[in-house]
Amino acid sequence: MEAESPRTDSTTTGQSGSLVAGVSNKVGSVLVVGSGISGMQAALDLANGGYYVYLLDSEPAIGGLMSKLDKTFPTNDCAMCVMSPKLVDCGRHLNIELVTYADVKNIEGVPGNYNVEIVRKAKSVDEEKCTGCGDCVTGCPSRYVVRPPDEAAQYAPELTADDKDFVDRLLREEPDVEGNLLAVLQDVSEYCRFLPEHVLKYVSDATGIPLARMISIATFYDAFSLEPRGEHTISVCMGTACHVKGSGLLQSRLQDILQIGNGETTTDGKFTLQTVRCIGCCALAPAVRIDDETFGFVMVRGLEKILKRF
Ligand code: FES
Repeated sequence: MEAESPRTDSTTTGQSGSLVAGVSNKVGSVLVVGSGISGMQAALDLANGGYYVYLLDSEPAIGGLMSKLDKTFPTNDCAMCVMSPKLVDCGRHLNIELVTYADVKNIEGVPGNYNVEIVRKAKSVDEEKCTGCGDCVTGCPSRYVVRPPDEAAQYAPELTADDKDFVDRLLREEPDVEGNLLAVLQDVSEYCRFLPEHVLKYVSDATGIPLARMISIATFYDAFSLEPRGEHTISVCMGTACHVKGSGLLQSRLQDILQIGNGETTTDGKFTLQTVRCIGCCALAPAVRIDDETFGFVMVRGLEKILKRF
């Protein structure tokens, strides 16, 4: 990637960033890796200071983890209210070039003169034309084929008769599947203990709801999994309150007892272990949830006793 000369942004003239205060000869460009809230702020400070900035992220869009949060701890501020102005500023700034869906492959050179090799993953959209409206997902003709349930079953051959009966009944009884998609997926997840792809395909074919939308919901919420789950799901809270009260030790001990890693399921299919962020019982920290039951003030030595109940 070649260095570019900084461009003048009339909207930011005079706002010298603190990171570059005192720098007189501004040459070349800067690469900021990671476009979370800190990456965006760093890019804005540098760009306002006169540098041309490449803001790189491995995800298809900037924003990082914070863009997936509703509120932030401990002030309960709305995450998007904090982020949105920075997202817009980064997108519009003449001195910032967004390099999304890309990874750093190699870095060579010395401070002040680096050569960075970047691998860009293929995108299926024309970035020049995309406005991010999402209409293409909804209107994609290749996904929006509504097939009658019998025909849809051909496209999901792994669907067992029981699964098919359950899904058919679910779709029959839900008058607005698209509007209540989250609830439908919850029912499927409860029945199958995860969201099998062939079941999602069947729902997609039978209703015309794009599979991509279901996958995006399934991957957004921690409560869903696209991998098979155990009979019981153990969720160790790693929110701030639980973390400072030692939930990391609970997680390590559980991994030892169950002989599995985070996100894995025991070989007998009994337990799945996962970490979650704040389950809303901070006063009980450190907290662990098994299925719908919450255990507070959990101590490492009490874990085996809790597991025996399941
Ligand atoms: S941090 Fe809130 S319940 Fe763990």
